[in-house]
Amino acid sequence: MKATPSPQQLKHEKQLAAEAALRWVRSGMLLGLGSGSTAALFISQLGAAVRAGQYQIQAVATSLASEALAREAGIPLVEPRRGMRLDLTVDGADELNTELQLVKGGGGALLREKVLATAADYLLILADSTKLVPQLGRFPLPLEVVPFALPWILDAVAELEGKPVVRMSRQQPTEPARTDQGNLLVDCHFQSIPDATSLARHLQQIPGLVEHGLFLGLARAALVAQGEQVLVYTP
Ligand code: 5RP
Repeated sequence: MKATPSPQQLKHEKQLAAEAALRWVRSGMLLGLGSGSTAALFISQLGAAVRAGQYQIQAVATSLASEALAREAGIPLVEPRRGMRLDLTVDGADELNTELQLVKGGGGALLREKVLATAADYLLILADSTKLVPQLGRFPLPLEVVPFALPWILDAVAELEGKPVVRMSRQQPTEPARTDQGNLLVDCHFQSIPDATSLARHLQQIPGLVEHGLFLGLARAALVAQGEQVLVYTP
């Protein structure tokens, strides 16, 4: 049986994947910056390269937290505008399979993450070795939902056999977590998702469900670190 990597090993793997992602960056690019601990490592390395004059780039961030990190790191940020296409979005994932179907949103930023994944010509995913799975679903699938619609969304998810749990705030554990848009998050415990395309189709039909964390047909490549190696997966 494969030993579970220690937190230090996982951080090292995330760092290796983040370093490797710099090879996808070119001067003049407009980048999408992901959210979460792996994306944060990428932002910090990209910032160092920008400050060293290695790249002249601009970026849009997938969360207020990543926006703050990018600003601190010296990465020039721009506002979304009509007709904007990103050359490259670099983001993490909670789970991925070898077809590069993803579960995202563990950090609650799935809506802006999907916007920037879709607006990009190339979505590059960074992952440590624990994220690559034979089947999606062990990680609870996050949904961003409009607060008014919550009771009906919980019913609809229960009907799809994904035990729904409203995510609570880490800072104020008696309050529900809020997204950057002020919406709620529901984590759906499916345990296994044998047909992600069909599940995504069902979820898309639920009114008040703003976005779900299944990212299908979006990633162009994934850098998965395993020990000292970084493996490149393409769909
Ligand atoms: C945030 C996300 C993150 O990309 C995902 O949760 C992975 O995070 P980490 O790199 O910390 O493991 O989807 O909404």
